[in-house]
Amino acid sequence: MILVTGGAGFIGSNFVLDWLAQSDEKIINLDKLTYAGNLQNLSSLSKDTRHIFIQGDIGNTQLVSQILAQYQPRAIINLAAESHVDRSIHGPEDFIQTNIFGTFHLLEAVRTYWNELESIAKQNFRFLHVSTDEVYGSLTRNEPAFTEEHRYEPNSPYSASKASSDHLVRAYHHTYGLPILTTNCSNNYGPFQFPEKLIPLMIANALARKSLPVYGDGQQIRDWLFVTDHCSAIRRVLEAGIVGETYNIGGCNEKPNIEIVQTICTLLEDSFPDSAFHKLITYVKDRPGHDRRYAINATKIERELNWKPAETFETGIRKTIQWYLNNQQWIADIQTGTYREWIEKNYLGLLK
Ligand code: NAD
Ligand code: DAU
Repeated sequence: MILVTGGAGFIGSNFVLDWLAQSDEKIINLDKLTYAGNLQNLSSLSKDTRHIFIQGDIGNTQLVSQILAQYQPRAIINLAAESHVDRSIHGPEDFIQTNIFGTFHLLEAVRTYWNELESIAKQNFRFLHVSTDEVYGSLTRNEPAFTEEHRYEPNSPYSASKASSDHLVRAYHHTYGLPILTTNCSNNYGPFQFPEKLIPLMIANALARKSLPVYGDGQQIRDWLFVTDHCSAIRRVLEAGIVGETYNIGGCNEKPNIEIVQTICTLLEDSFPDSAFHKLITYVKDRPGHDRRYAINATKIERELNWKPAETFETGIRKTIQWYLNNQQWIADIQTGTYREWIEKNYLGLLK
C-alpha cells in the first residue's frame, strides 16, 4: 500500500479518488483536517476498505512512526501543506510549522522506518515530495520558462516554506540516501478546490452575484494545469522517476489572471444568459510581493517519462465550472463562519 499525506485537500482528494479508480492498491490517508481538509471530498469512498483515513499531523513523529510500522507502505506521497499565498502573508507561522517543521519531522520518521526495511523493500521504497513552481520566483514576460535547473528565488512566506521543505527532502537523499523524488507543479484547478483560490473564488462569487476581486492590473501570468493531469504526473513519477531527481509539471497554459476571470464570466453567461457577470469584475489593491509570471518547462517529464496532460485549458475550465454548478451545496457547506472571517480579513482592506 501507499501513504498519502494531505489527502483530504484539493489535490490530495483528487489523487486518492484517481488512485483508487485505477488500482486496487490500498491507500492510507494522513490528514490533519485544517480548514482546507474536507472529508466530504471523499464521501464516495465511505464504504471502500481500500481507503484508510487517519486524522493527524505530519509533524507528529510518534503517530507517523506508528502508521509506518503498522501499514508498511512501499511509498509516501507528501501533499500535506499550508498552500494559500494570501494566508501566508497575513500569518506565516502555520506555514513554517507545517511546511518546514512538519516535513522535517515526517522525514525523520520515514528515515528510521526506511533504514529498518529489508533490502528489496528498502531499494524499492520511494518518498515523493509534491512542491510548487513558486519556489523559482517570478519571470519577466520574455524570460524562458522554469526548468529543473532554475535557481530557487522564493518571494512569499508560502514559497519560502515550500523551498525549505524541498531542500530538506534533497538533503535527506544526499546525506542519508533516502530514495526521494520531487515534483514542482504549476497552478492547479478543478473539482474540490477551496474557494479561496482564484478560479473557485471567482466562480463562487459570480454565482452569488458578488464582486470579482482582481489584484492589481490583472496582468499577472500563471500556467494552469487541470488537477487530474497533476495526479497522473505524480503517478508516473512514482512509477518511473529516477531517484533523487526533480520533475517540473505544467500545462503549457500561460494566461493572465484577467483573461481567466473573463473566461469564467463568459462561460457562466452561457448557463445564465440574463446575468452580466463581466460587470462584477472589480480591480482591487495588489497582493504584496505579487509574482508577475510563472511558466513551466515540462520537457523533462514529457521526454523521460512520456507524460503529457490530457486536458487543454478550454476543456478543463468547462469541466471545472460544470462541477461547481453541480456542487453548489459543497460550496455552501464550506462558506461557514471561518470562511467569511477570512474573506472579510483579506478583501475589506483591498478596495482601491
Ligand atoms: P490544500 O490546502 O487544498 O490541502 C492541503 C491539505 O493538507 C489539507 O487537507 C490539510 O488539512 C492538510 N494538512 C495541512 N497541514 C497538515 C499537517 N500538518 N499534517 C497533515 N495534514 C495537513 O492544498 P492543495 O492545493 O491540495 O496542495 C497540495 C500540495 O500541492 C501542497 O503541498 C502544495 O504546496 C502543492 N501544490 C499545490 C498547487 C496548487 O495549485 N494548488 C500547485 C503546486 C503544488
Ligand atoms: O503556482 C503554484 C501555486 O499556485 C501553488 O503552489 C499554490 O498552493 C496555489 O495557491 C497557487 O498560488 P497562486 O498565488 O498563484 O494562486 P491563487 O489562486 O491564490 O492566485 C492566482 C492568481 O490570481 C495570483 O496572481 C493572484 C490572483 N488573485 C487571486 C485571488 C485569490 C486575484 O487576482 N484575486 C484573488 O482574489
